[in-house]
Amino acid sequence: MTAVGIDAIEIWTGNLKLDLPGTFAPEKGEDPEKYTKGLGLTASSFPDSYEDIVTMAANAAHRLMERKGLEPEDIGRIDVATESAFDNSKPVSTYVAGCLETVYDGDFHHANKGERKFACIAGTQSLDDAYNWIRAGRNRGRGALVIATDTALYARGDAGEATQGAGAVAMYIAEDPDLVELSAEQGYGSADETDFLKPNQQFPSVDGKRSVQVYLARMREALEDYESVAGDVHPDDIVFAPFHTPFPGMVRKAAMLAYRHITRDTAIEDELAEEIGRQPRPEAFDTDDAYRDALREYMDALKGTARYQEWYDATIDPTLTLSREVGNWYTGSVHVARVSALKTALEAGRDLTGEQLLVGSYGSGAQAEIHAETIQDGWEDEIAALNVDEQLANRYDMSWDDYEEIHDAHNHDMDVDVEEFTTPSEEFVFDGWGRMGERKYRYVE
Ligand code: CAA
Repeated sequence: MTAVGIDAIEIWTGNLKLDLPGTFAPEKGEDPEKYTKGLGLTASSFPDSYEDIVTMAANAAHRLMERKGLEPEDIGRIDVATESAFDNSKPVSTYVAGCLETVYDGDFHHANKGERKFACIAGTQSLDDAYNWIRAGRNRGRGALVIATDTALYARGDAGEATQGAGAVAMYIAEDPDLVELSAEQGYGSADETDFLKPNQQFPSVDGKRSVQVYLARMREALEDYESVAGDVHPDDIVFAPFHTPFPGMVRKAAMLAYRHITRDTAIEDELAEEIGRQPRPEAFDTDDAYRDALREYMDALKGTARYQEWYDATIDPTLTLSREVGNWYTGSVHVARVSALKTALEAGRDLTGEQLLVGSYGSGAQAEIHAETIQDGWEDEIAALNVDEQLANRYDMSWDDYEEIHDAHNHDMDVDVEEFTTPSEEFVFDGWGRMGERKYRYVE
């Protein structure tokens, strides 16, 4: 069977930056280490006044098409995943296609376009749709453009304000991919939850503490479901495990849970037992509470072992490097984590061809999904072609007053005009409103 997977990937960050320990913490009267050590974040990306989910998506897609030499006729599907859409009818993918058609001779009139919604997991679901479309043989030799784009803004003063972010990830899904092959096996953990939602409102209603627990519960279910079809996962099988990263501290918790799960009944558990005892099993306890207390104690001890720390440093920490600098990109976040890990490996000169990633996606509401990816032999060229470091370094570093202005400028309930902080160059920009309330865009040379 021919491999199907991600052939290329591109990242587009919002052009502004908010320094969390330097600018945000003093205004909030918080210890900067709450952000750098607790949440694990140093900065967030923000959209300038001429940027939005369409411009970031179109810019990421344009870079990808240019780099891969793709023309519109090579693309049979455009799916945009977002939880920041501004229209309940017209999908963002039509705007993105419209933008791209202004810079290419061809058009996307015979491409199937759509928009996927399930909070942050929608990007991964769009990968599924593309995979299934190709596997079903309906693609006529073409690939699919999947774009995850979000302006992850919270209401001012919400606890989530520290985890904001804005950016887009564009991916080209095709047969015989250069970057990673997607596994046919998947596991799901899905339940009707009210942890984070936007009932026809721009900024989310969030039960932050509960959302953390729901993330962990659904991820555990997804891992069990994945193992039921793919067989037990062993730490030695995985080179990196990119997770959905609302903030790195969340992944720290998920990683610990995953490690406990995948080392149970293995030689690793036996070796660790000499130091911290065996993992608690529910059947050994009279009450649920007693079992949970024992689990907490075991996890605390596990965290302090050199064995766990080495695994975390090798398998998880490299997935978080970019997230620390950009914050939460909702639908794009797990795809940023994948890039982050591969980029770290490239910089370390590692040979990863044939190695496996275990990818954990999550969307509030809530659903987690786990699948595996096999790294392909074109990965080094693909990752080396990214200019994400340059993009991050070029962001305008906002003062507190700048931040307040730009947050208001992107607030749909406010009508404020803000001068742009950066000068757009070779990118799509927002260009005002049309007669039916539609957004207009143009390409700036
Ligand atoms: N030095 C070091 N660490 C510190 C510290 C300091 N001075 N001060 C606090 N910390 C630590 C805390 O101990 C805590 O770590 P642990 O959880 O490991 O104990 C961490 O920093 C955060 O501190 P708080 O819990 O006090 O922070 P908070 O209550 O202000 O906000 C939050 C945390 C509730 C998660 C908030 O950021 C939030 O609501 N975020 C949005 C929701 C979210 O991202 N949820 C994640 C799961 S849902 C999801 O993944 C979907 C999605 O994308 C939104």
